Amino acid sequence: MSAAVPNYAFTDPFKEIYIPPIRSLAPYASRPGTVSLSGGYPAPELFDVEGLQEASDRIMPNLRGFLQYANVEGQASLLAALIGLCGERGIACAPDEIMVTGGAQHGMALLSRVLLAQGDNVIVEDPAFPNTVQAFRYTGAHVHGVPVTSAGVDVDALDEMAARLKPKIVSVVASFSNPGGATVSRENRLRLLQLAVKHRFLLIEDDPYGELRYCGEKVPPIMALADAQSRPWVAYTSTMSKTMAPGMRVGWLVAPAEIRRRCVSAKAADDMSNPVWIQEIAAQYITGGRYHEHVPRIRAAYGARCEALDRALAGMLGDRVGYVKPEGGMFFWVRLAGEIDATRLLPYAIEKEVVFVPGQGFYLDPARHVDRHAMRLSFVTVDEARLTLGIERLARALDACEAREPVAVSLA
Ligand SMILES: Cc1ncc(COP(=O)(O)O)c(C=O)c1O
Repeated sequence: MSAAVPNYAFTDPFKEIYIPPIRSLAPYASRPGTVSLSGGYPAPELFDVEGLQEASDRIMPNLRGFLQYANVEGQASLLAALIGLCGERGIACAPDEIMVTGGAQHGMALLSRVLLAQGDNVIVEDPAFPNTVQAFRYTGAHVHGVPVTSAGVDVDALDEMAARLKPKIVSVVASFSNPGGATVSRENRLRLLQLAVKHRFLLIEDDPYGELRYCGEKVPPIMALADAQSRPWVAYTSTMSKTMAPGMRVGWLVAPAEIRRRCVSAKAADDMSNPVWIQEIAAQYITGGRYHEHVPRIRAAYGARCEALDRALAGMLGDRVGYVKPEGGMFFWVRLAGEIDATRLLPYAIEKEVVFVPGQGFYLDPARHVDRHAMRLSFVTVDEARLTLGIERLARALDACEAREPVAVSLA
C-alpha cells in the first residue's frame, strides 16, 4: 500500500509543474526513423570530440589542482579566455563584471533571483524561449510579452509598455532568436539601449546564437554598442552550448559589477561552483586554438543545413507556408498559409515520421494571444538529406490533414 502524499505546501510558482512544449514531444522525436525538427540540439556528429579530448589530455598533468573546491565566479583561466571572446565580440569587460555560469539559462536564473521580487514586472519577447519565462516566473514576478516581428522585438511597443509597466527587466534574444529566428537591426539595438536608460530597466541580452551567423551583415551584440550612460543598464548572457557542447554546461554572464557580485553570491547558494575540471578543459580548448577552428566548421555545416531547409520548404511547400529565412542560429519560424493550425497538423506529421514544435507553446499565454498557424523548425540537428526528407513528409502530412484523413496518433 502506498503512503499518502503529505501536503508539502509548495510555493505558488511550483504548485503546478511546468512542462516545456518540447519535452512532451521527446518520445515522438526519438522514434527510430523519425526526422526531428523539434529540439534546439546541436548536431552530435559535429561535436569536436578529438579537440576536447586533446584539451582534456593537456590539463591532466595538473588534475590534482582541479579536484579541489574553487572560486564561485569561475576558474581564472576560463574567465580570461571568456574576456578574450567577449573582446572579439566587441564587448569590453573588466574582471569584476564577468562570471562563469552553468549555461546561458543559469545566467538568466541568477539575474532573476538577485533582481526580481514577487509582483515585479518583467517584459520578454512573445513568443519566447520558455525556460527564460519560467526563470522569471519562479521569482513571483509578472511576465509580460512584447510583440515581435520578423525584425525582432517591436521597439515602439516596448517603449509604450515600459512606460506603463515600469519593468525591472527586459530580456531579448537579439541575434537569431528562439523561436522566431529574427535578428534585431543595429539601429533598433541602439534604441533598446536608449529605452533601458529612459525607463531604467535592466536590458538582458541573451546571446546563445550570436556566433552562428551564416549570411547577411554582422551586427554587434547590444552590449558592444552601449556607451557610458547605457552600459550600467545592460547584462549579457552567453554560452558554449551551441558552439562547443551543451553537456559541458559552460556559460557566462557579464553584468555591472554590483549586479555580478550578487549573482556570485546567489551562485554560491546554488552549487558552490561549476565543475573545475570541465572549466579547465573549456579554457584550454579556447586558448589552445581549437575553439576558433571549430566554430567556422559548425557555421559552414549549419549554414548548408539552413540553405537546405529553405530549398526544401520553397520547393515542396511553396506558397502553402510563409517564413523569413533566418541569417543564423538554429530555427525557422514558419506559418501555414491556409486554415490549418499547426497543433492540428502535428499528429499527422508524427504519423508520417516528422516532428516540429507548434508555435503555440512558445507564447506567454497560449490561451490568449497566439499565432496558431506558426511552427518552429530546427534545422541543425539533422543533415541536408534528412531535412529534405522531413519536409517531404511534412508536405504529405499537410495533404492528409487538409483532406481530413483519419489519424491514429493522438496527443494528450
Ligand atoms: C534563447 C535561449 N537562451 C538560453 C538557452 C539555454 O542555453 P544553455 O544551454 O547555455 O543554458 C537556450 C537554449 O536553447 C536558448 O535558446
